[in-house]
Amino acid sequence: MSVPGKKAFSTRSIHTGEPVDPTTQAVEPSLVLSTNFVFDPDAAGFSAETLDEKTPNVYARWSTPNERSLEEKLADLEDGEDALCFASGMGAISALILGTLRSGDHLVLSDVCYAGVAELARNTLPDFGIEVTTANFSDLDAVAAAIRPNTKLLWAETPCNPILRLTNIAAIAEIAHAAGAQFGVDSTMATPVATKPLALGADLVAHSLTKYLNGHGDALGGAVIGRKQAMAQLRQGALIHFGGALSPFNAWLIRRGLHTLELRMKAHEASARRVALYLESHPAIKRVIYPGLPSHPQYALAQRQMSNFSGMLTFQTKEDGAEVARRLYRKLQVFTYAVSLGKQRSLLFYIPTADILKSSFTLQGTALQSYRDFAGDGIFRVSIGLEAPEDLCADLDQALSQ
Ligand SMILES: Cc1ncc(COP(=O)(O)O)c(C=O)c1O
Repeated sequence: MSVPGKKAFSTRSIHTGEPVDPTTQAVEPSLVLSTNFVFDPDAAGFSAETLDEKTPNVYARWSTPNERSLEEKLADLEDGEDALCFASGMGAISALILGTLRSGDHLVLSDVCYAGVAELARNTLPDFGIEVTTANFSDLDAVAAAIRPNTKLLWAETPCNPILRLTNIAAIAEIAHAAGAQFGVDSTMATPVATKPLALGADLVAHSLTKYLNGHGDALGGAVIGRKQAMAQLRQGALIHFGGALSPFNAWLIRRGLHTLELRMKAHEASARRVALYLESHPAIKRVIYPGLPSHPQYALAQRQMSNFSGMLTFQTKEDGAEVARRLYRKLQVFTYAVSLGKQRSLLFYIPTADILKSSFTLQGTALQSYRDFAGDGIFRVSIGLEAPEDLCADLDQALSQ
């Protein structure tokens, strides 16, 4: 994937933000664990209010060399002006929402999204005076109808966790901008290999770096990418004062994971397609949802908006899902029965609809309908890793049999 005037994605994923260390001549970046840095007294002060883009590293909650190097790479890969890293994906999203919205502002949120975000919106944001309306983001009229005069932010994932419903980024960005609001996209499941939300009109992109961007399941992290001024404001406020800074070691690991992102996403996609096709033809399976198959309800949008269909799929069984889940937990040998996604090992777990609804934002009652219409009742969420697809299919075959 290339952008005019820029080196190819894979080249940038390796080189951006990682010059040879001028003090040690080390080819790979050193890990800098120091929590504080010597600085010229004229270059920075004691208060975060003195911070600007020329401020050197002062204190590790403000910035570190490993964090800045990762931010430079993430901004480049998302074609954004700047990026800001946090200790986790939820750290990034909560800082962004609470750092962007004020009491009296209104958020329009996708009725299906990662449980942590749904719970934050339902349980915490109203306590801060932030109003929330949820809408089915695959229905443009429903999103437009949810807008109010005080709407400041629209927020969605694409594909969304866990049902893999897509959001038409360009169309929603138009609706947001016509209302004078910003549109933020959680692109964790797509990654910048598949989708570039900023190029499609979104104002902000968030990632759980814990997932595909790190890719190896050994570091929590989160990031927001957007305009320089917005990132500077977030650093000065939400990062420094809420304090959810990314550890240098995790920044170092995630940067290393990014070197192979494009290669890994191609492999995840190729295996996921094979497993999805295998499951579609399996007699025990009722339905498979994978954005790369024509059976996905938004296949046309997937083809337009995604240049990689990722390794995430869901399936529904003919037999009671809870019963099948117990069998899969006992019998699977290559898959691991566990939450999370986007790593080298294939993961699978069962989500009963009742559980999803406990964590969903059901005020407007569209979430249940969205789940049932889109994915069915009770789904297995699968993250296809980097094992050989024939081993994954054989593992499912032996575990699905009685
Ligand atoms: C789409 C999405 N966004 C955000 C998060 C939160 O990320 P983290 O676990 O790094 O806080 C997750 C976690 O599963 C997720 O799937």
